[in-house]
Amino acid sequence: MIQIPRGTKDILPVDSIKWQYIEEVLRETCRNFNYKEIRTPIFEQTELFVRGVGDTTDIVNKEMYTFTDKGGRSMTLRPEGTAPAVRSYIENKMHGDPNQPVKIFYQGPMFRYERQQKGRYRQFEQFGVEVIGVEDPLIDVEVISLLLDIYKSFGLEKLELHINSIGDFESREDYQKALREHFAPSIGEFCSDCQSRLDRNPMRILDCKADAKHPLMTTAPNIQDYLNESSKAYFEAIKETLTNMGIDFIVDPNLVRGLDYYTHTAFELMSSAEGFGSITTLAGGGRYNGLIEMLDGPNETGIGFGMSIERLLLALEAESIELPIDDSIDFYLVTMGEKARIEASIILNRLRTNGFSADMDYKKRGMKAQIKDADRKKARYMIVLGDSELESGKIHVRNMDTRKEVEANLDCFEEEVNFDEA
Ligand code: HAM
Repeated sequence: MIQIPRGTKDILPVDSIKWQYIEEVLRETCRNFNYKEIRTPIFEQTELFVRGVGDTTDIVNKEMYTFTDKGGRSMTLRPEGTAPAVRSYIENKMHGDPNQPVKIFYQGPMFRYERQQKGRYRQFEQFGVEVIGVEDPLIDVEVISLLLDIYKSFGLEKLELHINSIGDFESREDYQKALREHFAPSIGEFCSDCQSRLDRNPMRILDCKADAKHPLMTTAPNIQDYLNESSKAYFEAIKETLTNMGIDFIVDPNLVRGLDYYTHTAFELMSSAEGFGSITTLAGGGRYNGLIEMLDGPNETGIGFGMSIERLLLALEAESIELPIDDSIDFYLVTMGEKARIEASIILNRLRTNGFSADMDYKKRGMKAQIKDADRKKARYMIVLGDSELESGKIHVRNMDTRKEVEANLDCFEEEVNFDEA
């Protein structure tokens, strides 16, 4: 039997309704914050991610779904949404758009060849936002508050916002130098990945899972001590605004993020719910001041975050939150006999074109089974249609909650009955 690829999931009809609800909340929040949707292709030239995400990252080194197309070009299924959004920003010359800064959001499948575990999949649905064209602590705070708004609007409470500043390029240079000096004498004790990271991007060492317990990790220099005055001031402004907004946060100097493009602000939202599992990061993001120029774009800066719907669902489960989902239908027509079935299908068509949701039995089940089916389908009203109803043109509309029935005319009952009272 052919099976679903490892690390992927089918979203079945009983679950897709939750996804639709979540997606609607995401869109609604973006409307409130005035972010507009962007849709980019699922695959891009491999070069975009190698240069954008960075060739020292796990994503680029180990996790990309890369293939050669029939024209001999190297293509990659997108592992994240920032590099494609920036590519589109540059290609469509959005910096020339009078509407500035450019505030966008996206949602779609992303692909990473990772070891499958709870909360980590090879295809996952990522929602993200990006603001390009302004460097202002207030916009960093807006992006963070948008992220929190999303999670709070589902009623989630066990959330922890971790923030850090990884400084501007100058601060980072100094910091990287200090890290090299710290790790170099014992680099032989680290994994081969870390050995190659030492020269190219020593900050990646701090993010290594294999060497997380090495004693040199805890004594490593702290980025906060290497921030220059302007980087410090930028970070102070963010912390102050968050505090004034009543947003709690934890400053986490070890938060370096797994992608190369970050400068200044980095943040992650974690779940502190018991039993959430080992991967507690719900969302992550930060500022990327060099990325746009690195991809041959104008001298503009950006900030954003990404989150997967899969991990949001895990957080909801961990906090036992039921989404307020309504999958009921307005009418269910119970039919007795072939004539009634044919008539019912015509009535269904009328109801549906008039904007009501309605269904009937197509399996030729008995009356009792059809009533059960009406309950299962969460019908609000049920109508029994048999020979006598067809002859008289009169029917009874039954409220499935109160079991109360009202009489109405078959050819226009949906206009006659006051459904609030029925
Ligand atoms: P990231 O930290 O690689 O950042 O991913 C962001 C979020 O995507 C994670 O916090 C998690 O919710 C979800 N995610 C990542 N990998 C997986 C996976 N294998 N399975 C399930 N969920 C996953 C980025 O992707 C950046 N583009 C975020 C960003 C936007 N930074 C600035 N703008």
